[in-house]
Amino acid sequence: MNLESIPRGELAAILRRMPKAELHIHIEGSLEPELIFRMAQRNGIELAYPSVEALRAAYAFTDLQSFLDIYYAGAGVLRTEEDFFEMAWSYLNRAKADNVIHCEIFFDPQTHTARGVPFATVINGLHRAVERAREELGLSASLILCFLRHLSEADAFATLEQALPFRDKFIGVGLDSGERGNPPEKFAAVFGRCRELGLRLVAHAGEEGPARYIRDALDLLKAERIDHGVRCLEDPHLVARLAAERIALTVCPLSNVKLAVFPELGHHNIGRLLAAGVLATINSDDPAYFGGYLNENFTATFDALPELGAREAYLLARNSFEASFVPDETKAVWIAGLDAFFADCSAGG
Ligand code: HPA
Ligand code: ZN
Repeated sequence: MNLESIPRGELAAILRRMPKAELHIHIEGSLEPELIFRMAQRNGIELAYPSVEALRAAYAFTDLQSFLDIYYAGAGVLRTEEDFFEMAWSYLNRAKADNVIHCEIFFDPQTHTARGVPFATVINGLHRAVERAREELGLSASLILCFLRHLSEADAFATLEQALPFRDKFIGVGLDSGERGNPPEKFAAVFGRCRELGLRLVAHAGEEGPARYIRDALDLLKAERIDHGVRCLEDPHLVARLAAERIALTVCPLSNVKLAVFPELGHHNIGRLLAAGVLATINSDDPAYFGGYLNENFTATFDALPELGAREAYLLARNSFEASFVPDETKAVWIAGLDAFFADCSAGG
């Protein structure tokens, strides 16, 4: 496989066609304005915006919190199991079109249970879509329950209790929402309990928060994967540790620009992370809000960063499989398929 022989002009098509996994997608962040309006109408909910265009025009964020305010408001239209099913089914079809073959999907149950929507309604709708994707799209998918870090740890424990009867419908837990002022240690006990229960553990860290939050997510929460993590480059020791321990970062370039973590894509550090040997991946985070699904994240990032070529395309797809929570045998099958795809590309196929 001679990746250097692949012309740069073919890169965009390769990025779109290559098989890949998505590991950082908030399902509520896939809710398109059209779907928000349709659900609001059928559920008899009055929206603060007069039209789809007006709602989309409000997607001008200055930081994480300014996004979260609109994101939680948008999720307020979700009421029935059918709503949760339809949201996830739409995303899964979109992922299939991007040649995603596996996804690990975050959901925020507290956003819904706080509004009186039963936990069962949320997870049964999402899980039905995951099952249907496996059967009808040949797409592998699983669910990860995220605790909202702006709420208390007691609230997270209560959510875990509600979730345990549905233990077979999700594979792990994560930590999202406003990072500043809500450090990992706030959730050390509930993550400890989840670990005892055999759940897989991930956490958002080092998006807006400092590099120290990444270290604490590893040491205090025992997170197996870090969501975002881009601020690790502020601490060279941490970068060396991430590389040595093969700890994956689920990086979301379009999100980072929309939320002003980087001023523009041309300043993004994904190339430097890969060059440092960090197991970085590319993901969409909240695609309906940040201007693109997974393939747009790949193509826009490669357009903006000249240091990214066919070698990095291969590496990012390979990393997405390596960092996933599937059995090693499954990873090996998917990586063999990826190798065959790139061998074909480099042979001029
Ligand atoms: N960061 C934190 N919380 C979130 C995000 C994010 O990027 N997206 C949805 N919830
Ligand atoms: Zn996220």
